[in-house]
Amino acid sequence: MHHGHGDDGQDPKEKIDYKATFRLLSGLIKTRKGPFLLAFVYMVSATLLNLFIPMIAKFVIDTAIPGRDPKALLLAAGVYIAATLLFLFFNYLQVLQLARAGQDLIVELKQRLLAHMLTLDLEFYSSMPVGRLNARVQSDTSTLYALFTNTVITIVNDLLMFGVVFCVMAFYNLELTLMLMPVFPVLAVFGWVFVRVTSPMFIKVRKLAAEVPGFLTEQLNGIGVLQAFSREAGTSGKMEDLNRRKFNAEVNVEIYTVLFFLSIVLLHPAATAAVFNFGGKMVIEGKLTVGVIVLFVLYLGFLFEPIFRFSEHLSVIQRSFSSGHRISKILALRPALTEQAKPHYLTSVRDSIDFRNVWMRYSEGAGWVLKNVSFTLPRGKSLAILGETGGGKTTVTSLLFRFYDFQKGHIEIDGTDIRTLSLGSLRAAIGLVQQDIYLFPGTVMDNLKLMDTSIPDSRVHDAIRLMGIEAFFKKHPLGKKVQEKGANLSIGEKQVISLARAMVLDQEVLVLDEATSNMDPHTERLITTAIKNLLRHKTVIIIAHRLSTVRNADRVMMISGGEVKELGTHDELLAMDGLYSKYYRLQFGEGE
Ligand SMILES: Nc1ncnc2c1ncn2[C@@H]1O[C@H](COP(=O)(O)OP(=O)(O)O)[C@@H](O)[C@H]1O
Ligand SMILES: [Mg+2]
Repeated sequence: MHHGHGDDGQDPKEKIDYKATFRLLSGLIKTRKGPFLLAFVYMVSATLLNLFIPMIAKFVIDTAIPGRDPKALLLAAGVYIAATLLFLFFNYLQVLQLARAGQDLIVELKQRLLAHMLTLDLEFYSSMPVGRLNARVQSDTSTLYALFTNTVITIVNDLLMFGVVFCVMAFYNLELTLMLMPVFPVLAVFGWVFVRVTSPMFIKVRKLAAEVPGFLTEQLNGIGVLQAFSREAGTSGKMEDLNRRKFNAEVNVEIYTVLFFLSIVLLHPAATAAVFNFGGKMVIEGKLTVGVIVLFVLYLGFLFEPIFRFSEHLSVIQRSFSSGHRISKILALRPALTEQAKPHYLTSVRDSIDFRNVWMRYSEGAGWVLKNVSFTLPRGKSLAILGETGGGKTTVTSLLFRFYDFQKGHIEIDGTDIRTLSLGSLRAAIGLVQQDIYLFPGTVMDNLKLMDTSIPDSRVHDAIRLMGIEAFFKKHPLGKKVQEKGANLSIGEKQVISLARAMVLDQEVLVLDEATSNMDPHTERLITTAIKNLLRHKTVIIIAHRLSTVRNADRVMMISGGEVKELGTHDELLAMDGLYSKYYRLQFGEGE
């Protein structure tokens, strides 16, 4: 199977932004200096104890044995065991401390990422599938966990260890130490090549790692459709293809990682051989003691240990930076819809909602979806919007919520530009009942309160009584469990629940967007009464096709192709003998 380079869906030449990522990571550490420092102290203590051990060997070989001193031997053995035990103890402390600090950091990062994502516009969510976002929050943050619990501190520690070992070796014999020097430039070149070659590979792996759950979520969300059309095979085929590509990418990365590791592993015996050869000669020449050779061989192990580890770390670092890069990209996104520095708080609608000559399009290049739309909705009154599918009805209401911004004209509440209002207060004042309703897992009661436990049950009962829909909730008791996405309720039933929810939340203005379009005649009759009651209490915009509902509204607006064609009361529009009256006659079977 062959794939072109562009099929990741995104920029195939994307580079990791190391600076931004580093800023993100160092910011996270900065607030936890204490815990990380403590872990570091434990780690350094363990390392220093470890470095002490070759000196004991040298002491035994060069001092205790030649001196024929059994007491010194016993002492050396005792010190060795004590040092080892202490080493293990500090190791234990360090692992524990790091795990704690690391988990804490990841929790904060996840929280920050999630909180940030919740502020982003709906536009962001339409371009970013839920599954992929999920991968960002879950797997990308977990990758960073490895970096923080281990890598960062180990690297600092290893650098220190490397320096100390080097100095100790140079202290015992400078000449032999200098002979080992050529190893390091070779090492640096290997490392550089490794980073260059694998960094795009790591990005690719991360991308695919997000694509797999992304695809899976999309497909499982549409499982009903897939099964109805017998398309399961196609889905699992695509899934396999995706998984295979991820597999290949992972294997490629692994191959280079292992090659890099092996090339470094080979440097260790090379250096050891050099010590045997040159060091041995120096012993023969009487320039060196046997103990120093043993010390060098042991220290070479210590010297290479951080190098080996670093080669492993390099892949963790690469992985983490590509994860961190993707996280910081999301954190850098700013909502396109912004509030001004000191927004006005909308406490209540006293006067009216006004649209004046509003023009709107969803993107630069696209055509106008709303053209010069104007209307006034006085407080306590209702406006019905009617028109063909795609005519722009929902868009009118989306603008009122500021889900999107418009390009020309004015939208005002009590004469105040809605763009100067705080988004939170604006949206809190307006309730929405949509066509496709999302219910959360929980009971019917939970959903009526929209998970707000501070709302007393009595308010729910009052709302139901006020709307006159007690019968419905006899059939669907408030304690009934709602399954995920409300799967155990029909669309009509969900609409009744969401209407009641709007009443419970007691918002001043209510937008009903085809909220009764999926009900059977019986339920609709029930709801028509409920809506009649709602209209009496609230300021309402109602998008509907049924004239039985529209008739109850104070005014009717006909929209077609984004333009307001007719606006007036039911009787006025009927008298105009235009679009509305045609619509009316069609529905009552009097049409041509
Ligand atoms: N999020 C969106 N991005 C781009 N175009 C959109 C979006 N939402 C709606 N549209 C387009 O805007 C037009 C009006 O849509 P809408 O207001 O939903 O119509 P209605 O509610 O009257 O059926 C349609 O042509 C639709 O394709
Ligand atoms: Mg619509």
